[in-house]
Amino acid sequence: MSGGGVSRGVDVGLSAFDFPAWCRSHLECVEQALSDWVGQDAPHDLGQAMRYAVLDGGKRLRPLLVRAAQEAVQGLPEASLRAACSVELIHAYSLVHDDMPCMDNDVLRRGKPTVHVQFGEAGALLAGDALQALAFELLTPDDGSVPDAMQAVLCRLLARAAGSEGMAGGQAIDLASVGKVLSEEQLRRMHRLKTGALLQGSVMMGAACGAVDEPARQALCRYGAAVGLAFQVVDDILDVVADSSTLGKTAGKDAAQDKPTYVSLLGLERSRRHAAELLEEAEKALAESGLADTRALLALARMVVERSH
Ligand code: IPE
Ligand code: IPE
Ligand code: MG
Ligand code: MG
Ligand code: MG
Repeated sequence: MSGGGVSRGVDVGLSAFDFPAWCRSHLECVEQALSDWVGQDAPHDLGQAMRYAVLDGGKRLRPLLVRAAQEAVQGLPEASLRAACSVELIHAYSLVHDDMPCMDNDVLRRGKPTVHVQFGEAGALLAGDALQALAFELLTPDDGSVPDAMQAVLCRLLARAAGSEGMAGGQAIDLASVGKVLSEEQLRRMHRLKTGALLQGSVMMGAACGAVDEPARQALCRYGAAVGLAFQVVDDILDVVADSSTLGKTAGKDAAQDKPTYVSLLGLERSRRHAAELLEEAEKALAESGLADTRALLALARMVVERSH
């Protein structure tokens, strides 16, 4: 699997950083690799369902975090392209299952009918299963392009971020919390697990594509935690303030389904302030990292908090 060309990093002078150009370059690379790698030879309509779930949509924030962290530690681009795609596959699978009638029962995702609407519930279940398996296959190439020890670390980070102590665990808390009022601590834990873990995992996987000293690794860990939580706080806010066509998914559904969110607990203004505080935490962590160039990571953190969809 070649991925159709691996970027060796975008050439940015330290004086001027063109974030839109940086994003374009990495997005092109990630989109091509996903299209090459996802669902090409799967039987019946499984491949179609996998491609439908992954391609043509999505902000690709997690892949961009992987690439930015890998560049910050001057890691291996080949490894980070695989890591970037693997995280996006886990994310796409989580969305397919999150939208199913047994979970959030949503009909719109990324501006299209959800996978179960298009391919049936069994089709959506299987597409999610297959995307999860493919994520780990991508991390374990047998062509010598990614050292074995690095493969093992990447798999471990992704498994932890996706599993019962990460996304799946957080989704379990989410389902068990419908109609309940959570304390801020309980809500923070739910959000850290269901969404934060995979975003933080993206940062740490990017860092694992290179050699990084312990203080820098810990600073990236703090950065990832702050950005990860901020992301879901903003998701909760957007569910209230944005419309479905901007979001590409059904707006207003948290209140309709009686889900505890930052907005239901703190209100809009305090939620916005909290997102801004988390951005400050992320910025501080980067400043303490000792890494030479963290401008992409910084710009991504700002994007997470200032986004409109
Ligand atoms: C939406 O994630 C689901 C959450 C974890 C809140 P994104 O907002 O990153 O969705 P896409 O990938 O851009 O569609
Ligand atoms: C989803 O959280 C988190 C996932 C693990 C998919 P939400 O249920 O709030 O995500 P949206 O709003 O449907 O995208
Ligand atoms: Mg949900
Ligand atoms: Mg949902
Ligand atoms: Mg939401």
